[in-house]
Amino acid sequence: MAQILDGKALSQTLRNEIGEKTAHLKQTRGIQPGLGLLLVGDNPASQVYVSSKAKACEELGFYSVIIRQPADTSEGAVLRQVQEWNADPRIHGILVQLPLPKHIDEHKVLLAVAPQKDVDGFHPENVGRLVAGLPCFAPCTPAGVMEILSRYNIETKGKHAVVVGRSNIVGKPMANLLYQKAPNANAIVTICHTAAPDLTVFTKQADILVAAVGVPEALKGADMKDGVVVIDVGINRIADPTAPKGTRLVGDVHFASASERASAITPVPGGVGPMTIAMLMQNTYRSAAGEVY
Ligand code: GUN
Repeated sequence: MAQILDGKALSQTLRNEIGEKTAHLKQTRGIQPGLGLLLVGDNPASQVYVSSKAKACEELGFYSVIIRQPADTSEGAVLRQVQEWNADPRIHGILVQLPLPKHIDEHKVLLAVAPQKDVDGFHPENVGRLVAGLPCFAPCTPAGVMEILSRYNIETKGKHAVVVGRSNIVGKPMANLLYQKAPNANAIVTICHTAAPDLTVFTKQADILVAAVGVPEALKGADMKDGVVVIDVGINRIADPTAPKGTRLVGDVHFASASERASAITPVPGGVGPMTIAMLMQNTYRSAAGEVY
């Protein structure tokens, strides 16, 4: 049976570590890490994510502020809020929750965030730094995956990592982190996506398989080789008449069949998801402590 990579427990360990470092930062340098969270519109999932991020700030002793703007807010109003935080010394991290309403140019908004406060790692400056192997804020979800791999002592050097998905938030930065010439990286990386006539040609070769497909239970055990390490980035709510709420959460991997093939696997929920918030806290701490820029 596969080892369960428990992101929930690991995220708690990380949060404890960050909490201790935060207390030390306050004591020695009088700095309290601060995070600005901007939520535009009323996407229910985004509301849950933003509240969880604010709650994590509170637990760790960070300063945080949530600004909510209506779905019909103007692009100018969003940009003004970002600029206000760029200039605010209490704010070390700025997070604009995505997706934004269609009439707002996402690229323009992400470009407005000062790279020094871009704790999501979405600004082209940080994207470029990541690719170049320079100090940067790495996007939180793939950074959380790297943390799982290293803390569970999973060898990545020389291993074939296959990333399924090419989004700016997960797939692209994931591939870049995995092949960096750095300790706990150094993997041989294949990135594949929906244009592949047959994804399983690639997934079957993976020593480490990262699924960020966005389709519930898309990858099955039969698509994997024995001993694979499976990292499931998907979070999908599907109908389940037998569940108390009538729905349940599943990943992009079919867990039961994959765990028969895998040597280790992240569950959903309780795998990659909780790590994302822990890494956001880590990035915000690193910004406040001046560890990146
Ligand atoms: N929407 C989905 N994932 C993310 C994320 O990591 N950061 C932000 N800002 N929005 C998201």
